[in-house]
Amino acid sequence: MSQALDEIKIGGLGASRKRVEDNRFIRGKGNYTDDITLPGMLHMEILRSPLAHARISSIDTSKAWDIPGVHLVLTGEMMATRNLAWMPTLSYDTQAVLATDKVRFQGQEVACVIADDPYIAKDACEAIEVEYEPLPVIVNPEQAVAEGAPVIRDDKDSQRDNVIYDWEVGDAAGTERAFAQADVVSKLRLHYPRSHPSPIECCGSIADFNRATSKLTVYMTTQAPHIIRAAVALVAELPEHMIRIISPDIGGGFGNKVPVYPGYVCSILASILLERPVKWIEDKTGNLISTGFARDIYLDGEMALRRDGKILAVRMRCDADHGAFFSDAQPSKFKIGLLHSAFAAYDIPVAHLAARGTYSNKAPGGVAYRCSFRVTEAMFFQERMMQAAADDLGMDQAEFRRMNFVKDDDFPHRTPFGFLTDSGQYAKCLDVGLKAIGYEDFRREQAEARNRGRLLGLGISTMTEPLGAGNSREYDILGIKMFDSAELKVHMTGKAIIRTGARTQGQGHETTWAQIVSHELGIPAEDVVVEEGDTDTAPFGMGTYASRSTPVAGAAVAMVARKIRAKARRLAAHLLEVSEEDVEWELGRFYVRSAPDRGVTIQECAMAAYSNMPDGMEPGLENTAYYDPPNLTWPFAVYIATVEVDPSTGVWDVLKLVAVDDCGVRINPMIVEGQIMGGLTEAYAMANMQFITFDAEGNCVGSNYMDYLLPTAWETPGFELHSEVVTPCPHHPIGAKGIGECAAVGGPAAYVNAVMDALSGTGVRNIDMPLLPDRVWEAITYRRDVSGAPPVRSDD
Ligand code: CDP
Repeated sequence: MSQALDEIKIGGLGASRKRVEDNRFIRGKGNYTDDITLPGMLHMEILRSPLAHARISSIDTSKAWDIPGVHLVLTGEMMATRNLAWMPTLSYDTQAVLATDKVRFQGQEVACVIADDPYIAKDACEAIEVEYEPLPVIVNPEQAVAEGAPVIRDDKDSQRDNVIYDWEVGDAAGTERAFAQADVVSKLRLHYPRSHPSPIECCGSIADFNRATSKLTVYMTTQAPHIIRAAVALVAELPEHMIRIISPDIGGGFGNKVPVYPGYVCSILASILLERPVKWIEDKTGNLISTGFARDIYLDGEMALRRDGKILAVRMRCDADHGAFFSDAQPSKFKIGLLHSAFAAYDIPVAHLAARGTYSNKAPGGVAYRCSFRVTEAMFFQERMMQAAADDLGMDQAEFRRMNFVKDDDFPHRTPFGFLTDSGQYAKCLDVGLKAIGYEDFRREQAEARNRGRLLGLGISTMTEPLGAGNSREYDILGIKMFDSAELKVHMTGKAIIRTGARTQGQGHETTWAQIVSHELGIPAEDVVVEEGDTDTAPFGMGTYASRSTPVAGAAVAMVARKIRAKARRLAAHLLEVSEEDVEWELGRFYVRSAPDRGVTIQECAMAAYSNMPDGMEPGLENTAYYDPPNLTWPFAVYIATVEVDPSTGVWDVLKLVAVDDCGVRINPMIVEGQIMGGLTEAYAMANMQFITFDAEGNCVGSNYMDYLLPTAWETPGFELHSEVVTPCPHHPIGAKGIGECAAVGGPAAYVNAVMDALSGTGVRNIDMPLLPDRVWEAITYRRDVSGAPPVRSDD
């Protein structure tokens, strides 16, 4: 008779276990970078450029040095003497640490002061006198490539213009031929505006160089501690084993805490020079104007269509504004990230994407803000184009999507841009969504309301996201292959510690990794502690972004637990005095096949590993696994929103939002739902209210939370979540696919499509995000598209 444990009771796979990390967070016992105080610690503040483009004529720091309590004033010139004025970026470009020749965006780092406290350091920054000679400013790709445009990156010998790359993927000639066969060509021009991940906790670091041991310890807000260690070793030429990066609790990352920022580098150099710990904590405006922005891509999209609705080909031409330095974190091979994952869910024979990246006088952009390297833009463009194409054909939105979906038995499916998708039940997800929203009834209600002058709309968005880079064959960052790792130590009493190379920033790894161990070994989740974020103890990993944790580190957790189980099986055979082949496993216990009542628990095996192992067996029960995924995981989702637009004000309200997410096997359903709700909230913010743009002089408009709005519970609509479709990932050890970003990726198009649907028949084809009331009102009143970043006059 089976004596297997009840998996849900022990907190294994599928248990909606409460997040263990919340215990300390809700008690105020979290330990963030700013909570850490070291003996003798000094404080650093950064002087930033007020101008977006200007030559630096002089920097006079003498008054700052004279202020009591100031220990060091760093300038670009001083950094240059140590070869640290510039640093490499994650995209094979260079970025100024402290400006030497020019400033290239408003908010760029010009000098740093290290003082006894942050107030003295701030005052001393204000005492630094910088003379600037203003230069013409570029704030969009059109200006960047215009005749006679000033060359922003004149620091680079080979750079004669503002173009960073001209990149293409797909089959240009085949796409051309398909367009020649089309009955209908649908066209749309879109802009996905700049947005900022704006985590509640800003960036910061405490560098602590100890001359006696030669060890450099850095506490910092990073999503990828091992990458930072490698970068510090290579850039500062310090021995890697003498560098310890500790990423304490992180108050949200969303991609913003992946890049290496000048503040980190300056605090490290200052600590080495002063031989004292140096703390730098960025303020909110500093974070909003100088750290990794996202999006800012213009699209000219075209679809070749057959009259009956079959998509024959897709052509996309993108212009990406990267800001002053090309510092995107993305796989080296793909210049515009995974934007070419667009249309992966649809069966399209041929496609072509051409992308041009340009510099501008804005802060560096291109971080993967809650998305797998530009997938948010890909899915937004895809679903806006799908809506426009269905309208052009006069077809039903749902039917058009359904007829073009990749079918359930067509997996693995090769997309027109060369990806191989793994599994999915796309039509089923759509059916669940349509039923939940009450599709037919709503369409009737919408027509009746229209007759009474009310504007109701319904927007469908589907998304499939490539999550879990690598495999290492195709995915690397700066040549470092993308894979991940986990180390599991089972102590003699059967309690365990699991460490991974990922780094949670709110996703709940401390809860879910323990659940995977529990699933594999039958050790109750509460007996497993999870540790991440310390390079001296965690195995090497590429960090957490792009929803890669579950697909890669989570898989490594399962694989290392299986290694442990294999050794425990040998211990069990020894304890049961039978051969290994006669031993069977059920959750938490090995037993003799022919006598199921004779068994030993995993805890008894753990004790034996330290007290009663067979002759010749290495003692202990611990191991490490490196996991190089064979492919990406491809979750799928359908989001459907209904809205009502007030034609007299342009204000729109969400009536209902239905989300059907298929992320394969759910480790913790409650955490998955939290991730989806968070993503839908961010999607709503992008579609409805977030506005961070630049005026003609390059001043950042939206550099505070009065202008750049974060939705609270008050504004955020309610969501109806559906989990009935589960298509396990065929190549992931526990069948899981990533989920962290899906709703933020797929959500925006659902809201925008709903508003555009409400406006159908008015002749308005597109309003670019954010769909602020004045933009919607303008579109309705003047019956015209409202495109591009919202215009801002410099005197506004
Ligand atoms: O990389 P990141 O942690 O941001 O994203 P993720 O791998 O999609 O995971 C987000 C959270 O959801 C983690 O706590 C996962 O363990 C959990 N999750 C889950 O419970 N089931 C899944 N199929 C996917 C993720």
